[in-house]
Amino acid sequence: MDVNRLQKAQEALDAEIKSFFDSAPPLRNIEDIGKDLRKFVEFNPPQAGTQIDRKVVCVTSGGTTVPLEQRCVRYIDNFSSGHRGAASTEYFLKAGYSVIFLYRKGTRQPYCSLLPDDPFLECLEFTQESGIQVRQPYSEAVKNAISEHHAMLHLVAISMRSIGPHALFYLAAAVSDFYVPWESMAEHKIQSGSGPLDMRLVQVPKMLSRLRSEWAPMAYCISFKLETDVKILLEKANAALRKYKMHMVIANELLTRKEEVTLVTTNEKIHVRRDPKLVGDIVEKHIIKHVVDKHSAYVDNFDHKVSRA
Ligand code: PMT
Repeated sequence: MDVNRLQKAQEALDAEIKSFFDSAPPLRNIEDIGKDLRKFVEFNPPQAGTQIDRKVVCVTSGGTTVPLEQRCVRYIDNFSSGHRGAASTEYFLKAGYSVIFLYRKGTRQPYCSLLPDDPFLECLEFTQESGIQVRQPYSEAVKNAISEHHAMLHLVAISMRSIGPHALFYLAAAVSDFYVPWESMAEHKIQSGSGPLDMRLVQVPKMLSRLRSEWAPMAYCISFKLETDVKILLEKANAALRKYKMHMVIANELLTRKEEVTLVTTNEKIHVRRDPKLVGDIVEKHIIKHVVDKHSAYVDNFDHKVSRA
């Protein structure tokens, strides 16, 4: 692409991103969330024996919804349960990371996979001696479940800039590719009596290139690629790697996503699968092991370059 065309494409993307943010209602408590995030990132003390080896990962998780009305009655949704993000968070914590867990309300939470579907009712019991208490079979799972962090990707990225290459983004959320801009959205419930619904959805600009180039340019960035046609999966993952300059793209197919994935980087493809013979073995355990190794090598390489400069 020549310089003029590149600049025009850049300006078009800037305009799309601006109109996407302008058209959404403003984020509530933006200043408080920003303050909490900075405090959280700065609070992470250096690990013993090192100067700045503290690592923070932002995990995005679950699907996003697209409201069709301002006083929303209906919305478009997607399949994502948030399992990938929640399970991965557990392994990041085990590996010593501090985690900012950016999730969609109602989707899976870390440490909750062993809880029943209706935890509040099934986990609690009433006894004359102690009143309401957690039932014994769930006590360990409930204890583990009491931890979560949430915020917004842009704010998180800016707050994580101060830790440079020690920041990791693990973007497992299934973000909607289309939305209805606020100003063209019906205010009240759309009436079904007026025949077929004709509605124009606008494309959500991809924030990945912005994340890499401006919001957190030194962070290690991992995005996901989901397809239903396995024949095009790796090709699409490679294209995303190049287009958005990701450090890694994790490729998964809808039906087998809980069994196996491929980690794609510029010079290798690592196929990772869970061992079905091992009780409790989940694919996220293997994914995070590789991710932690790659991120550590990235940090070491960065530190090495800085010390030589
Ligand atoms: O939640 P589960 O049921 O466990 O399922 C996990 C999963 C299949 C959803 C997950 O493993 C996965 O593949 N997530 C990405 C789905 C996808 O293909 O997203 P995408 O093609 O719309 O976006 C590609 C990447 O860009 C994703 O990493 C996405 O998080 C990121 N993105 C997309 C748009 C946007 N505006 N901002 C983003 O960060």
